[in-house]
Amino acid sequence: MSRTIEEIVDLGDRTYRVLIGRGARHRTAELLPTGAARVAVVTQAGVPESLIPDFPGREVSLHRIGAGEEHKTLATVQTLTEGFAEAGLTRSDVVVAVGGGLVTDVAGFAASAYHRGIAVVHVATTLLAMVDAAIGGKTGVNLPQGKNLVGAFWQPAAVVCDTESLDSLGERETRCGNGEMAKYHFIVPGDLSVLPIDERVARCVRIKADIVSADEREGGLRALLNYGHTLAHALEIVTDHSLAHGEAVALGLLYAAHLGQVTGRIGAARVDDHYAVVHDLYGLRVPLPNGLDFAVLLETMKRDKKAIEGLTFVLDSPQGLEVVHGVADADALAAWDAFCARIAQ
Ligand SMILES: NC(=O)c1ccc[n+]([C@@H]2O[C@H](COP(=O)([O-])OP(=O)(O)OC[C@H]3O[C@@H](n4cnc5c(N)ncnc54)[C@H](O)[C@@H]3O)[C@@H](O)[C@H]2O)c1
Ligand SMILES: [Zn+2]
Repeated sequence: MSRTIEEIVDLGDRTYRVLIGRGARHRTAELLPTGAARVAVVTQAGVPESLIPDFPGREVSLHRIGAGEEHKTLATVQTLTEGFAEAGLTRSDVVVAVGGGLVTDVAGFAASAYHRGIAVVHVATTLLAMVDAAIGGKTGVNLPQGKNLVGAFWQPAAVVCDTESLDSLGERETRCGNGEMAKYHFIVPGDLSVLPIDERVARCVRIKADIVSADEREGGLRALLNYGHTLAHALEIVTDHSLAHGEAVALGLLYAAHLGQVTGRIGAARVDDHYAVVHDLYGLRVPLPNGLDFAVLLETMKRDKKAIEGLTFVLDSPQGLEVVHGVADADALAAWDAFCARIAQ
């Protein structure tokens, strides 16, 4: 096992450790609550079995959920919690989620509700789960009416990011994780691109951990994690999710850079920085889907659940990222034109 990096999510008496590194999963057992006699492992068929840690001396039950957003439902939570009850899990036992963001979101929510809340430890196996989903305590499932509409804030007792998991990750999943990772380059100053993968994951975890510690329930600062997401969400909706989330975020980051320039907040060199990270460093040259109508995208962005006052974006500035309400339609359109022209080059 190579060196394991440790980060802390500081939340008072709910503070927890995040272990990052190749082979880090072999240390999961030491992170479990000491009184936990039973471990319910929640995972998915697509997650390699070799990524499930061993828990010597504890009674382990295995619970597999389906893959794909259509399985991120209350029905899955019902099946899971019935499985926990059959396995005899008590309030002092623990759920261990082994998988990507779907598994950590569903298992985390099931843990938050079972016995009115039992401990959960996340073993993140996708890049997206490592740098985003497994950190910060947002859990939940989808309803037919929308994504993540039922959920809870339920902080894990610990998180493990074993970067060996990334070896088996498919190309699209890797791209999606890279889309979120690219976002972190703009949240705090400093060059992430020079860091080896373990340290880069750790740095992203650190950034998210600091934001979550300061603003657990998204009163303000946590919204900065949505950089690139206003256009991304609209693109996902209008393309009926033919663009994956991270791919849409890659486009959304570039568009946000142009909008930052159009509104006079950043200069051309900073826009170039965005292209250097998204296109060159992460290779996220995502083509714009054909036939997009900006008027439709604009309306969709205005309906975004985070758009409280008109068109809301996170935008770059010399002081760093800021939430900007009431962006003018004309600026949004001018940025779109500049973005389309540049991306077609
Ligand atoms: N809670 C949060 O703060 C938060 C943040 C971002 C995203 N999310 C949620 O995360 C979900 C997306 O997560 P995701 O991108 O990790 O996708 P995912 O969990 O759906 O995983 C994608 C696929 O990769 C497979 N897989 C997982 N690990 C693997 C490995 N090591 N090797 C090979 N295959 C592997 C899975 O079985 C699955 O088929 C969405 O539901 C999203 O809403 C939550
Ligand atoms: Zn995202």
